[in-house]
Amino acid sequence: MDERARRLHTVLGDSGRSVFALDPAVRHINHGSYGASPRVTLEYQAQLKAALDANPMRWFETLPPRHAAVRDELAQFLRVPSSTLAWVPNASAASTVVFSSLELDAGDEVIVTDHAYGAVAQGVTRLVERRGAHVVTVGVPLSAGEEQTRALILDAVTPRTRVVMLDQISSATARRFPVDAVADALADTGILLVIDGAHGLGLLEDPVVSGDHVVWFGNLHKYACGPRGAAVLAARGDVAQRLWPAIDSWGAAEPFPQRFDLQGSLDSTAFLSAAHAIRTMATAFGGWSPIREHSAVLGRYGADLLITALGPISDDDPAIDVGMPVAQQPLVRLPRGAAHDGRSARSLKDAFAEDGFEVGVSTFGGRGYVRISAHAYSEAEDFEAFAERAPRIIADTVAAHSPAR
Ligand SMILES: Cc1ncc(COP(=O)(O)O)c(C=O)c1O
Repeated sequence: MDERARRLHTVLGDSGRSVFALDPAVRHINHGSYGASPRVTLEYQAQLKAALDANPMRWFETLPPRHAAVRDELAQFLRVPSSTLAWVPNASAASTVVFSSLELDAGDEVIVTDHAYGAVAQGVTRLVERRGAHVVTVGVPLSAGEEQTRALILDAVTPRTRVVMLDQISSATARRFPVDAVADALADTGILLVIDGAHGLGLLEDPVVSGDHVVWFGNLHKYACGPRGAAVLAARGDVAQRLWPAIDSWGAAEPFPQRFDLQGSLDSTAFLSAAHAIRTMATAFGGWSPIREHSAVLGRYGADLLITALGPISDDDPAIDVGMPVAQQPLVRLPRGAAHDGRSARSLKDAFAEDGFEVGVSTFGGRGYVRISAHAYSEAEDFEAFAERAPRIIADTVAAHSPAR
């Protein structure tokens, strides 16, 4: 690999890694799960927390205008009007907001795919079934391209469909979904399109999908590097005005998005620090494009190394055809028997962690996958070390859990 691509440097010549508070003894190749924040943003958040604790009364009394200023900055980054953007603590909360605000009748249908984030899908099912409506899960092959995926989703629409929910980038399978094409197709139907953009925010240059019947949400703590506890939900018009925060509080009488500013005594310093994180990253690395490009190059490099390394212990090809892949978060197929269910995925993830690697392991359709993530702090050595160690760790974990023992 080209020497210059091996690690990203800041505009001042420091290593990308030095910007983050991550433990240098660990190889962090799972940014996709909980993200990581610049050190200076964490310090900024600590200052905000100190101000909160120094005078809690003043803090909460003066919160709405500070939320508004951050919302304006985030809106600029996301290329949407700030009047369409509300603070939610995380993507799960955003989903709860949407599905608890919906009016559904018995027999109505909500379409999701089999790639939906498990915890979100569980919550959606509970809220939908409470109203006598039900969830229709569409199976989408990992290899399905844009047109096939769009067709599979639209074919599932019936006169009872009220909502379609899609991941912009799925978690376990790290693939994109054709959210713009589905939004276009549903535009005049009155069916609400809910887009889980948990991974899209920051990773994609222009992630928010807008429309009169579209709700989009994304986590600020994943690719955008904000502290955990901050996400945004984007909606406009009547759809927006029918949404209330999951924590009903004093803001309830306000319009959207202001009614989301006060969610009881919830600490919003993560949200207030999110714009700082986005600004810090852009300043440190000369914009977001170099970060996205670096992590795409390293993601592909890491996947290629791992595919080659797993070849000798695999009975089929570790390289899989992912329909709409994400270069910064590639997926590699594990040998049969590894991570074939939730429990064995957990064991393998723990075994990687014991060896000093934090990496995503998932199960889809009875097969195990490794999802690697690259970001501004990732270095070629992280993926080289992982590719060198992974076959042994996988083989040992599979052997330890095989029925013969
Ligand atoms: C696609 C997707 N949606 C939703 C979530 C939930 O995010 P949170 O736990 O921050 O609510 C995740 C978390 O990884 C995710 O990957």
